[in-house]
Amino acid sequence: MNIIITGASRGIGKELVKLFAENVSNKIFIISRNEAKLNELHEYCKKEYKNSQIHSIAFDITETSKIKTLVDDLLSENETIDILINNAGFLVAKPFDQITLADAETIYKVNVLGPLELIKKLIPGLKKAEHAHVVNISSMGGFQGSVKFPGLAAYSSSKAAIASLTECLAEEYKESNIKFNCLALGAVATEMLAEAFPGYEAPTTAKQMAEFIYDFALNGHKMFNGKILPVSKTTP
Ligand SMILES: NC(=O)c1ccc[n+]([C@@H]2O[C@H](COP(=O)([O-])OP(=O)(O)OC[C@H]3O[C@@H](n4cnc5c(N)ncnc54)[C@H](OP(=O)(O)O)[C@@H]3O)[C@@H](O)[C@H]2O)c1
Repeated sequence: MNIIITGASRGIGKELVKLFAENVSNKIFIISRNEAKLNELHEYCKKEYKNSQIHSIAFDITETSKIKTLVDDLLSENETIDILINNAGFLVAKPFDQITLADAETIYKVNVLGPLELIKKLIPGLKKAEHAHVVNISSMGGFQGSVKFPGLAAYSSSKAAIASLTECLAEEYKESNIKFNCLALGAVATEMLAEAFPGYEAPTTAKQMAEFIYDFALNGHKMFNGKILPVSKTTP
């Protein structure tokens, strides 16, 4: 299978890459800004799983006007995309009146506009797969009716936007082979969480969450389309 994972340099994305790399017939395109960390992961996978096929692409997803070129480069050597996981995420935790427009623009570019443009440009590749699955990673903070946290207005509202985009795309492509789903994650012990909420102990590790997303990316399209699923052990 041909798989694209954004936000692969650390956290949940990094763990996801390791899981997909175990099956050496998978060709995995990993995207993040930090080239050194991507190369480190690439080397790790080569050592652990001989013949794993990883293509690292250092790219800033906020550069939405360059996404066409990025995809043209990918598709020239790889016509079909089976799975796209829009996992890259950016969080700024600040009281609402201190969030700058620049903060909000970056948050929305990483969490909504980058994925929107990436999906759009990948539609031809996704259409060529027998069954394609786009998994968008949202947050419980962006899930309707969930508990909201002060300081996360821009982040959580951007996560609500990617969730709504998922529903819209599922409707628009319902006659096609492409399924779109969104996972609204609860707290996971990653650098993102540690930076935003120092000292908070999440009930789930990055590896545990990656295992769930891995399984869902492979199988969720069989039963779900256009769904926003809360993935959280805590209530409500
Ligand atoms: N951890 C949680 O508690 C939690 C809860 C709910 C939802 N989520 C969501 O789960 C996903 C993964 O989160 P995580 O906790 O693993 O976060 P993380 O450790 O901060 O990792 C985020 C990833 O996104 C990439 N990224 C950020 N800005 C980017 C940009 N401009 N261009 C390309 N890549 C970019 C980062 O790579 P570079 O820095 O190398 O670019 C990194 O690989 C995110 O969408 C997050 O919002 C996490």
